[in-house]
Amino acid sequence: MAGSVTGNIFKVMTWGESHGYGLGAVVDGCPAGIEIDEEYIQKDMDRRRPGGNKFGTKRNEGDKIKILSGVFEGKTTGTPISLAVINENQRSGDYGNIMEVFRPGHADMGFYKKYGFRDYRGGGRSSGRETLARVAAGAVARKFLSQLGISIKSYTLQIGSVKAEKKNIEDIFENQFFMPDKEAAEKAEALLKETSEKGDSLGGVVECVISGMPIGIGEPVFEKLDSSLAKAFMSIGAVKGVEFGGGFSVAEASGSENNDEFYMGENGKILKKTNNSGGILGGMSDGADIVARIAFKPTPSISQKQNTVDIHGENREIEIKGRHDPVIVPRAVVVTEAMAAITAADMMLMNLSANIENIKKVYGVV
Ligand SMILES: Cc1cc2nc3c(=O)[nH]c(=O)nc-3n(C[C@H](O)[C@H](O)[C@H](O)COP(=O)(O)O)c2cc1C
Repeated sequence: MAGSVTGNIFKVMTWGESHGYGLGAVVDGCPAGIEIDEEYIQKDMDRRRPGGNKFGTKRNEGDKIKILSGVFEGKTTGTPISLAVINENQRSGDYGNIMEVFRPGHADMGFYKKYGFRDYRGGGRSSGRETLARVAAGAVARKFLSQLGISIKSYTLQIGSVKAEKKNIEDIFENQFFMPDKEAAEKAEALLKETSEKGDSLGGVVECVISGMPIGIGEPVFEKLDSSLAKAFMSIGAVKGVEFGGGFSVAEASGSENNDEFYMGENGKILKKTNNSGGILGGMSDGADIVARIAFKPTPSISQKQNTVDIHGENREIEIKGRHDPVIVPRAVVVTEAMAAITAADMMLMNLSANIENIKKVYGVV
């Protein structure tokens, strides 16, 4: 199976299955000398962890991260950083009733036809649980970026039909949806309760903001910042759309409405009056916040009866039991931050070789 590695210099491989012995990531190409420990990574792991809120899946296990290599005396050594979580609560028995049946909205059918087998114990590689490895690697990337003055924050803008406004960013840790809008979070809670009582699920939208990125990060033409971020976000299970800045609404704007006019700031920096570009022009950061919105589909595992087929080509009915979130979005918030961090870290490192003046500085040549 190809495709488990991402990145050009800051490379991340994830490994493991949802119901195997464990899951993890290997980070290759991380600079030496960055302070990192398990406690720092664990904070992000806990935000993704199942059972973290009352609507979360009941699979309540520790997801305790272990650093197996690449860190010595609290600092990265420049060697591959191996990060692992041992699965503690597999309960494979829950999945026995779907062994031969393709779950609608899941990767089951494609996996079976492509590889000739599938891990029926909850999706294996295509399980949302794979994202814990991304979160662990993302924490390393985030720590690296923090030393360069770059920070990343994601929050929920929509759950089903309930839209949040960006009222107070401090509120995101005060409600289970990570919404910057307390009133919208209450409405979302009511809608989710009503939906899950019907055995159904909801989707939503996450906004991810990268702040402090210097101008010019991103490599035209195939490694543009926006194309690389879009790929990173789209690689998260259940993501169905990504937009930057004005996003799809730019299609109906005129050029004069959409262009972000430049002006000289007092600090001698080139600034923009608006940010319809979402902080990216020509595939390179333009100095403004990078703003992406990521649309998640409703959780595919629902307890309502659905029509499907089985591996023998027979029409069947399916009722999915087991532990499933009626909405993926809250747990995916930190996953979007992780993928943004991994991509931004890689792009920052790639940029170092863009200009002879940078290279001279590194080698101390005047
Ligand atoms: C953090 C996270 C948690 C997820 N948890 C679940 C879950 O509990 N139940 C489920 O049916 N799908 C869950 N998913 C989504 C499925 O993994 C995904 O929809 C499925 O593999 C099909 O892939 P696709 O939606 O990208 O086409 C989760 C995804 C993420 C990112």
